Parts: sequence; structure tokens; C-alpha cells
Amino acid sequence: MKFNIKDIKLASEGNKKIDWAESKMPVLRLIRRRFKKEKLLKNRRIGCCLHVTTETANLVRTLKAGGAEVFLSASNPLSTQDYVAAALAKDGIGVFACNGESRREYYKNMAQVLKNKPELLIDDGADLISTVHKKKIKGVLGGTEETTTGVIRLKQMERDKVLQFPIIAVNDSLTKHLFDNRYGTGQSTIDGILRATNTLISGSNFVVAGYGWCGRGLAMRAKGMGAQVIITEVDSVKALEARMDGYTVLPMVDAAKIGDVFITVTGDINVIRKDHMLKMKDGAIIGNSGHFDVEIDKSGLKKITKKRRVIRDFCEEHTLKNGKKIYLLAQGRLVNLAAAEGHPAMVMDMSFANQALAVEYILNNRKLENRVYNLPLKLDEKIARLKLKSMGIKIDTLTPEQKRYLASWEIGT
Ligand code: ADE
Repeated sequence: MKFNIKDIKLASEGNKKIDWAESKMPVLRLIRRRFKKEKLLKNRRIGCCLHVTTETANLVRTLKAGGAEVFLSASNPLSTQDYVAAALAKDGIGVFACNGESRREYYKNMAQVLKNKPELLIDDGADLISTVHKKKIKGVLGGTEETTTGVIRLKQMERDKVLQFPIIAVNDSLTKHLFDNRYGTGQSTIDGILRATNTLISGSNFVVAGYGWCGRGLAMRAKGMGAQVIITEVDSVKALEARMDGYTVLPMVDAAKIGDVFITVTGDINVIRKDHMLKMKDGAIIGNSGHFDVEIDKSGLKKITKKRRVIRDFCEEHTLKNGKKIYLLAQGRLVNLAAAEGHPAMVMDMSFANQALAVEYILNNRKLENRVYNLPLKLDEKIARLKLKSMGIKIDTLTPEQKRYLASWEIGT
């Protein structure tokens, strides 16, 4: 099978949208130009498990420009933009992804990627890398990981001493999580909520579960739109930070009673449970922007639901046994990618610049151990410099006197 997509006729729509994203990805464009000249990836087979979006298509085009053969399956059953899959398939990419695919199809599509014996893996959530390990597939030189959830899983594999090849934790680059997780998730989650509900954020009690970089970004944007933001946390330092950033901090049981909108971004399971849902106000909206659809206890919700209907696209009305109605967005899957289009290209530019450089780094550093590494700070800083340049922003440089001062320990008061 060369590809498995919904409809090849969507290719021209996909190409236009991929071109639009490309115009907002100047750093990746520069890397693509260099890759095209240097052909470092010539004849390399790269397997990707990523959200099939216009931005991902630009990463794929970059890898292809470097000479790679690329195979792609989706990192979420609801995030595939079928027009993108069509455009990539028409370009000769082995893309195996259909929006709305079942769990079985998700793994079948991933198996198609693996059938092509990729030597390098680009993952988002670590399902691809964990499958390679479970199936004991050989021949992989290294992998990269896009997201917090995936990095947590991979670091556990490192601790368990089961990792079979080196990993670059792209998520942990500064030019990734400080921007993509914060500003990308912040904006695209609001976008998803609005597309699914058209609710008014202003004046609402907006509950954010988790105050990591994604939670911080989302809280900031909800506050900016006039919401009263409530943070729930399990980490004492993050909870304190949220409070000092000006938010109300509550346990979920208390937040449940007053929230109008609830979004989980914790990376953990069953953060919103049956007992919380039973306490919620009539009309409460619940959604998730964490990687997996485990943060809202969907089976618990099913147990307390009397009647269910899809009332709008990506919005399910649940009439509970207690008579109240609550609204579940995007089946509890990433609301920013299922109901909207994910992070804007302008921010994915940096994330995918990191991905492209991470692949190059693995190939140029063949002595890496089977561990989880960060990309060197120098590359991170280079991406930041290029991004600033593309935005027309100049910054100061240290004077020789300032450099000497920073390098000295003798000079005090
Ligand atoms: N993750 C979040 N937003 C994304 C996007 N637009 N493309 C690929 N992966 C993403």
C-alpha cells in the first residue's frame, strides 16, 4: 500500500493551505533550503507519527528536500486534516491517516509506516517509538519526540533501561516549549472551544487543570479575554506560581461547583471524574488539550449520562441522571487539533525547525547512547536568532567590557 487517505481529490485544497502555512514558517524554509543543497538525508527512511496538519506537511517537505523518503501516520485519530494527507500522498509521501480513524485503524496505519523500515523516527506522544520497542523492530538509528507526554514516557523507558536507540527530546528545547506549548496551546485551545461552542469567554469562570507551559498559556489567554481563571494543580510550586500570577487556585472538587468551562492540560488520567461532573453547574463545558483522551473520565461520564446527543460539531450534550446538562468537547480528545487546526504555523515554525535539526543531529552524532537528550543550546539559540530576524527584531550584543565583567569573579561592589 502506497498510502491510505480519505480522498486524493482534496490535494489541491491541501496544497494551497500548506503554502499558506509555509509563508509563516521562515525558519523552517531556511533549513529546507540548506537541506536541499546538502542532501544530508539522501536515501534515509524517516517514519513520522505526527498530527497531519499543514505545518507537519512543511516539515515533511523539508525532510524530503534533504533527500529523505518519508512515511507518516497520525498521532491522534481526530487531528488529521484530510486535505493535507491528500496533498502529501500526491507528492509521493507514504501517508497513512484518515480523520476519524478508529483505534484499530490508528495502529494499522502506524504499522504501514513501520513496514517501510524507517531508520529515523519523529514521534508526537511516543506511540510510534513505544510500538517499535514492543514489537522489537530493529534498524532504528534514533528518534525525536515532540511533546511533554511523549518525553515523560521516553524518560521512563530510559530509566527502565529498555531504550534501544537515542532520543532527542525536541519538546525540551526552549524554542519549543516556551512558545509552542505556551502561546500555541493557549491560542489554539481557545480557538477550538470557540469553534465548538461559540461561548463567551468574558465573564466566565474558566478552569484550567494543570499549570505547566500549556496551562500557563491557556490561563493567560482566557484571562486576556475577560475570564475569571481558576487553576487546579497537584504540584505545590506550580500552584504557588499560579496564585502569584493572579489566578484563583482550588482543588477540582471546589472548582467543579463554580466553573463554566473546564480544560485539562495535565498529561495525567482521570483529572475530571464522575464525582466532579455531578457537582458541575447546568451548562458546564468540559474539554481537554492534553495529548491523550484520558484526562476526562469518559466511562464515568457515560455511567452518569441519561441522554446524549451531538448538539454542534465537536460538542456532545450529556443530560445527566441528576437532570443537569454538561457539554463534552471533541470526545475529550485534543480540542485544539480536533475542533480547530492546532497551533498556528508561526509557532510551529520553531517546533519543526527543532525537529529538522534534531534529525540532522542524530545523523551527525552517531556515538550517542541509548538515552534521552536535549538538542544543544547553541541550536536552540540559533533558532531564536533566526526567528527574531524573520520578525524584523534586532537585539543588543554584549560589549567587550560587559563580557569581561561577566567572566570575572573579582569585581564585586
Ligand atoms: N501540535 C499542535 N499543533 C500542531 C500543528 N499545527 N501541527 C502539528 N502538530 C501540532
